[in-house]
Amino acid sequence: MRIGIFDSGIGGVSVLHEAVRLLPDEEYIFYADVDHVPYGVKTSEQVKEYVDSIVSELISMDVDAVVIACNTATSVAANHVRAKYDIPIIGMEPAVKPAVEAAAVGVNEKSRVLVMATPITIRENKLHTLLEKVDTQHRVDLLSMPGFVRMAEAEIFDGDEVDGYIEEQMAVLNKELYTEVVLGCTHFNYFKPALKKFFGEGVELIDGNLGTVRHVAKVLGLEISQGKVEKSNIKYYESGRLVTEQEKLDKFMRLHRRLEEVHDIR
Ligand code: DGL
Repeated sequence: MRIGIFDSGIGGVSVLHEAVRLLPDEEYIFYADVDHVPYGVKTSEQVKEYVDSIVSELISMDVDAVVIACNTATSVAANHVRAKYDIPIIGMEPAVKPAVEAAAVGVNEKSRVLVMATPITIRENKLHTLLEKVDTQHRVDLLSMPGFVRMAEAEIFDGDEVDGYIEEQMAVLNKELYTEVVLGCTHFNYFKPALKKFFGEGVELIDGNLGTVRHVAKVLGLEISQGKVEKSNIKYYESGRLVTEQEKLDKFMRLHRRLEEVHDIR
């Protein structure tokens, strides 16, 4: 099967990475919309237009399914493209449900959930509808982290700038309250070490990648197995342009290595 995976930028590589680990025999087209990154601070209408044109481009490349490896794009455009195109389209949403369930197990007032995402994801109805359904005990707080997208695109994943940004964004919140932190943007996976350092060992970081890939496997009737990233069949595109430059391919390899290093951090 040929699977198209897209994001505004490198966040989606974290979904691609998980897909290649679990479904190593498939063919992948990874599409980063570098001309329009970041999505999270644009208008919802703009993002909807980008998503529509990417899905149509991926379909013209004969993909069997499209994965929207972006919470932001899913929240504004998944329903629109699903209604318009006749192909399986798998989206992503912050993994709030497992986080709330995990927090409910440790019933004390310390058990709160923090959802980090982009400004669009935080203001769109999709997340609020989900919260109404699963956050019945009002344990969830939301935090917009657009600076992470900029730093991720610059491959700044650790160090003073990252630590300082987390401190700054968290200044209005009490970090001691949280037992679960949801990474509600695919770009945030790269920052797991810095987040772990800030929140401490007792706090669990939850991303939606495994759940998304399991869903892809189910929709396409594929069996999950454990593979090697190097073995995989991936073509990379940047806003419609096939990536052939070695320097850019090296960057994608560096990102896979980073994702491999941080993969088991929870
Ligand atoms: N990676 C995207 C997400 O999951 C959005 C990043 C951006 O703002 O472009 O929400």
